[in-house]
Amino acid sequence: MTKVEEKSFEQRVWSLSDEHRKRSGTKDFRVFQAPGRVNLLGEHTDYSGGFCMPAALNFNTLVAANPRSDTLLRMYSLDFKHAAEFDLKNLQPQGKEEWSSYPAGVAWSLGQRGVKVGGADLTFSGNVPLGAGLSSSASIEVATATALLALADAEMPQPRVALACQKAENDFVGAPCGIMDQFISACGVKDNALAIDTRALTLELAPIPADLRLVVCNSMVQHSVGDGKYGARRKEVEEAAKAVARKLGKDEATYQLRDATLQDLFAAKDDMSHEAFLRGRHVITDSERVHLGVAALRTGDARVFGALMADAHASFRDDFAASCDRCDLLVRLAMSLEGCLGSRLTGGGFGGCTVSLVETAKAETFAKALAHRYREATNVDPAVFVCKIADGAGPVELE
Ligand code: GLA
Repeated sequence: MTKVEEKSFEQRVWSLSDEHRKRSGTKDFRVFQAPGRVNLLGEHTDYSGGFCMPAALNFNTLVAANPRSDTLLRMYSLDFKHAAEFDLKNLQPQGKEEWSSYPAGVAWSLGQRGVKVGGADLTFSGNVPLGAGLSSSASIEVATATALLALADAEMPQPRVALACQKAENDFVGAPCGIMDQFISACGVKDNALAIDTRALTLELAPIPADLRLVVCNSMVQHSVGDGKYGARRKEVEEAAKAVARKLGKDEATYQLRDATLQDLFAAKDDMSHEAFLRGRHVITDSERVHLGVAALRTGDARVFGALMADAHASFRDDFAASCDRCDLLVRLAMSLEGCLGSRLTGGGFGGCTVSLVETAKAETFAKALAHRYREATNVDPAVFVCKIADGAGPVELE
């Protein structure tokens, strides 16, 4: 079984600092971090203005940063052992998912919002598993934004930081994501999931009790927001929204499924493809599950919350058609193990990780048993993490 922190946080900061000192030739730099996330309820609801319920995890991207006197962004990734250089005077949208496009896109996007971004040396090191649906991209974006804003001595409310990072991913990298991942990475609160209203960009705390743990299991089936399947689902959801808008006499261009009830969707059923209807049904019911989930956590009803997670998985698998055999298997295995209250595929879908809600006292045993059973069934070694819920992005100060 993989441990969350193979190296301690402090060790990671020290290695990063050593490398940064060598590469930049200065001791005068700062370190910032931004976390990855897991989503508990409300999947593919964020680009419909709906609700979702992610939690920031104790996986993060660290960035060491110092200002330069020119307009260059000189970047290095410890994980990819790869350097990249961009000139701020000449930043053009890349349309490709290379690691360096994300931070470059953030510099571009902050510039578009009027921030006076200056040249910088940036060294990155992350432990968010890549291609696992745990938002490694958002964590590198938000870490970069946090660093560049600090170097520019500029203040920006966290939800706006999230919006700037989403713009970087949509328009510079070219991946059609919503706002959830950047928002939770910027605004996460330790020991809490956040119920996020993705249209108002407001949040409500949903405390996860200490006697429960989130156990994340990587199916090792690769996930990517840019591979076309995510975009295809997004188009189907938009088709459903347009049909409902027509039926209700609303503006098709701006109407969002956030405002539709199931009755509205049924009333417009004949005016959309069957697929669009099913996708719409998932979006409306999963957004509603977020409200039910907050109420369950507030009243300490973990069993109800677990049942909502199980319903969410069924809806994602059957209506949204965005699960895969191995993730379905992981969910079934998890639900059969002692101490598990609920389990589901998390994130954009078609692979990546499941998240299970497990009694703390049983979490380590659960994690080992899940890894063992999955390996037995598939011959694939999954990475299983008994997670902690972390705070959102910020500066790193070691004692
Ligand atoms: C990806 C996207 C998010 C969100 C989820 C699905 O993580 O980046 O914006 O749409 O998928 O809920």
